[in-house]
Amino acid sequence: MKNRYFIKAYGCQMNLYEAGVVSAIMDQAGFEQTESETDADIIYLITCSVRNHAEQRALGRFNYFKGMKKDKPGLIIGILGCMAQSYKDKLNTEHGADIVAGPDQYRILPELINTFQQTQIPQNATSFSCENYEGIMPRNKSKTTGFISIMRGCNNYCTYCIVPYVRGRERSKSLDQIIKEAEILVQSGVQDITLVGQNVLAWRQDNLDFLDLIKAVDKLDGYTRLRFITSHPKDLTQRHIQTFASLKKFCAHIHLPIQSGSDRILQLMNRGYTCAEYIEKVETARKIIPELSFTTDILVGFPSETEADFQKTIWVIKQLQFDFAYMFRYSERPYTKSRDLNDKVPEQTRRQRLTDLIQTQNQITARKSSELLGRQMQVLVESKNGTQAYARTRTNKIVIIKEPVKTGQTYLCQIDKIVGWTPIGKILETIKQEEVL
Ligand code: 5AD
Ligand code: SF4
Repeated sequence: MKNRYFIKAYGCQMNLYEAGVVSAIMDQAGFEQTESETDADIIYLITCSVRNHAEQRALGRFNYFKGMKKDKPGLIIGILGCMAQSYKDKLNTEHGADIVAGPDQYRILPELINTFQQTQIPQNATSFSCENYEGIMPRNKSKTTGFISIMRGCNNYCTYCIVPYVRGRERSKSLDQIIKEAEILVQSGVQDITLVGQNVLAWRQDNLDFLDLIKAVDKLDGYTRLRFITSHPKDLTQRHIQTFASLKKFCAHIHLPIQSGSDRILQLMNRGYTCAEYIEKVETARKIIPELSFTTDILVGFPSETEADFQKTIWVIKQLQFDFAYMFRYSERPYTKSRDLNDKVPEQTRRQRLTDLIQTQNQITARKSSELLGRQMQVLVESKNGTQAYARTRTNKIVIIKEPVKTGQTYLCQIDKIVGWTPIGKILETIKQEEVL
């Protein structure tokens, strides 16, 4: 019988994409993926280190899987991803992981498994290698949406962030490989492609930049929507926005993490922009593409953040009216510079600020959603669950449809109800691929 593996991925889009890379590598070596953890001979956890909470969740799950070894002594458990890179062999020695492989080491997973099976010696592979997984066509679960990692790693060294230490330096995937992956996604019926990277705007190949890349991907036929995450505000210029406006498939949404509204904190974070510069970028972009939706990340309780600093963050989110925000309280991470800063904000204050921030943003998110009421818009159906279908607007809002629809099909719908923040759409007509906006 074949060795069956099960993958549980935590964290960002990059980890989800890389779960597909791991599948492709394992399948090629003759292993077989299972969707059921109880059927598996090998369990991989792809972990995230960006906050302590994410690590604790993954460790909790790891311990649960370890418990399964009582009934299944041959079960192999591997910890992959950012935690593997950060904890290194401590995951073998202190936690009892059989396989530990950092984000650059997935190509050798089949060897690590074989060696472990033969020797029962825990395996650890955590060196960096500028890996880009060129030549690997990752498994893509959805038939409608697809992701392509275009660059990996980060050179920005925001002082709170562990990413540069666990994912290494920035490196770009070749244009040829990106186009090849896009073509394969399109051939499989994918309509919506997202280019993924820690900072996609930093993509480079010789004298080509991200705008050359996105223009090339936009030109491919056979699909309708092109997105990208994440963009660093310091790298976003008016030239970018003008180019996006000229693309046929660009979806009017940009995820642009602001982190804080206080210039003093932004500087301590090493973000490379001021609050006024950030506002100016968003306002200019909205002038060029009026329907553009913006989402953001906000971090409260960074060391030395005062109530006045925090109020600047509250002010800016009210000012900019983001469509949605991912909000976090500062979590001290190994390796990072912010660990050395004095004047840590007490846990209680961090929690309170996060609660206040969420309350403020929730009102904005709800108001933004309510603006959709009565509007007609094209939506792409991404998935279904019983009688309910989940569709997305080009501005990245999920619309629920309670009528029979086809996954992968674009429809014109009218938003006739908002439940909580979620728009409910009524189908008006089916849109042919050539007529998709
Ligand atoms: N603590 C809390 N949030 C963090 N993020 C990154 N590092 C930390 C940290 N140490 C958040 C940032 C980033 C998002 C992916 O996670 O807001 O944009
Ligand atoms: Fe982390 Fe900053 Fe890089 Fe984003 S840009 S991954 S926050 S170091």
